[in-house]
Amino acid sequence: IFPNLTLKQILFLEWMERNGPNARFLFNGDDDVFANTDNMVQYLQGLDDNYGSKHLFTGHLIQNVGPIRSQGRKYFVPVQLQESNSYLPYCGGGGFLLSGYTAMVIYNMSKSITILPIDDVYMGLCLAKAGLGPSSHMGVKTAGLYISSSKTDTYDPCHYKEIILVHRFFPVHIYLMWHRIHDPKLKCGI
Ligand SMILES: *[C@@H]1O[C@H](CO)[C@@H](O)[C@H](O)[C@H]1NC(C)=O
Ligand SMILES: *[C@@H]1O[C@H](CO)[C@@H](O)[C@H](O)[C@H]1NC(C)=O
Repeated sequence: IFPNLTLKQILFLEWMERNGPNARFLFNGDDDVFANTDNMVQYLQGLDDNYGSKHLFTGHLIQNVGPIRSQGRKYFVPVQLQESNSYLPYCGGGGFLLSGYTAMVIYNMSKSITILPIDDVYMGLCLAKAGLGPSSHMGVKTAGLYISSSKTDTYDPCHYKEIILVHRFFPVHIYLMWHRIHDPKLKCGI
């Protein structure tokens, strides 16, 4: 299953090159994420370069981890595929933002880099080959949203107004949250 996820990413970038070469920015994410697209647009418009012609690759930055070596585990990677015991920095595949420029850099690099079954790690590898790297965005919560008090409502819209993305949402919750954060009567304390 997993090599195909990396293939899917590469084919998506190939499709981009053919069909959307002028796209400035891309959002790449799972279908079970709550994506606050208003905040994405606001963030991207606030960048110095908002034409997507410079490097941008940002999300939940993962560093200092390495391949899982026990067979049968979901993310198992044998030494034959990757000898090194550590991965280069990458952004968790739940969701990340990248520029059109960076998408094409990754696509170009992928032509000469052997496929690794873990798609998000593979993207980090392509970036590194190009001398680039991923960055961390505080608003991307691919590991879920940490809500400090157990008494507070996990689906309180005020927790979701400032974020860009939260992982693990059922479709019905995505729908509900979208309406709740856009409720003109919604009041959140600072
Ligand atoms: C992965 O892709 C290959 C080649 O397209 C295909 O033959 C295979 O069935 C796919 N595997 C899964 C698990 O979808
Ligand atoms: C990708 O490769 C193509 C063909 O070699 C080249 O024209 C293009 O400038 C490259 N793009 C980037 C962003 O490196």
